[in-house]
Amino acid sequence: MRIFVSGTSSGLGLHISEELLSQGDYVWGIGRREFDIEIIRKSGQENFKYSQCDTTVYSQVKNTFEQMVESGFIPDIAIFCAGSATEDIAGNDFSLDKLRKNVEVNLLGVLSWVELLLPHFLGRNRGTFAGISSMSTFRENHRKRIGYSASKLALNKCFENLRLEYSDRGVNFVIFNMGRMTKTRELIGVSYEKASRLIVNMLKSDRRPTVVNIPRSQFLLTRAAELIPEKLFRRYLMG
Ligand SMILES: NC(=O)c1ccc[n+]([C@@H]2O[C@H](COP(=O)([O-])OP(=O)(O)OC[C@H]3O[C@@H](n4cnc5c(N)ncnc54)[C@H](OP(=O)(O)O)[C@@H]3O)[C@@H](O)[C@H]2O)c1
Repeated sequence: MRIFVSGTSSGLGLHISEELLSQGDYVWGIGRREFDIEIIRKSGQENFKYSQCDTTVYSQVKNTFEQMVESGFIPDIAIFCAGSATEDIAGNDFSLDKLRKNVEVNLLGVLSWVELLLPHFLGRNRGTFAGISSMSTFRENHRKRIGYSASKLALNKCFENLRLEYSDRGVNFVIFNMGRMTKTRELIGVSYEKASRLIVNMLKSDRRPTVVNIPRSQFLLTRAAELIPEKLFRRYLMG
């Protein structure tokens, strides 16, 4: 399969790319930094293409998209891992500019790719968009960031609407609400390695998932935490 992955230069996007390459898929990844292809395991390097592209700069997105089309690389699945959790609150100050950055990466940086890829997916009645969101859309647990969960929640709602519009034309929009992710397994959360395996397997299955919460244990805790009054939650459960 051909898969587009945003935010492939580190964290979840890198692990998902490696998982896909190990399964023999072709991956086109993007990120802002220069990326040393040697980071990718030798066996997968020839099926991997990387473009330096800031997903908030439309001209760069369009240019990368045009390169993909010219190379005949219309993905079967597009996975959006690029994310921003920039602090937009500091002391007495709230910065609209910093909030805007969260919205531009987490929401608009996904939708600009949807705008470009959707006609191709509809043209062949097939394709999956996968948005990487967060469990903080259920119970807020971030301090100093008012734009992070808000932009992720907006993404979830956009994908819900897009599903209503297009899922009967063969195009699916999946949201993965992720809990805490770490390099190695810890008590709460999930390792990048396990998360990427679960996401890839789910996307390749015939189940046509819509909303997936990973890991399940943290999802149950998060939903239970919604029952705790905000005042108590803030005082006793937030750092
Ligand atoms: N880590 C967690 O515990 C956690 C929990 C819930 C949800 N999530 C979500 O899961 C996703 C992956 O998280 P992560 O932990 O893997 O994050 P990460 O390690 O910080 O990786 C983020 C990736 O996004 C890319 N990126 C950021 N801004 C970009 C832009 N403007 N244009 C293109 N690429 C951009 C970065 O590459 P460059 O720096 O090269 O641009 C990097 O590859 C994010 O959407 C995050 O919000 C994470």
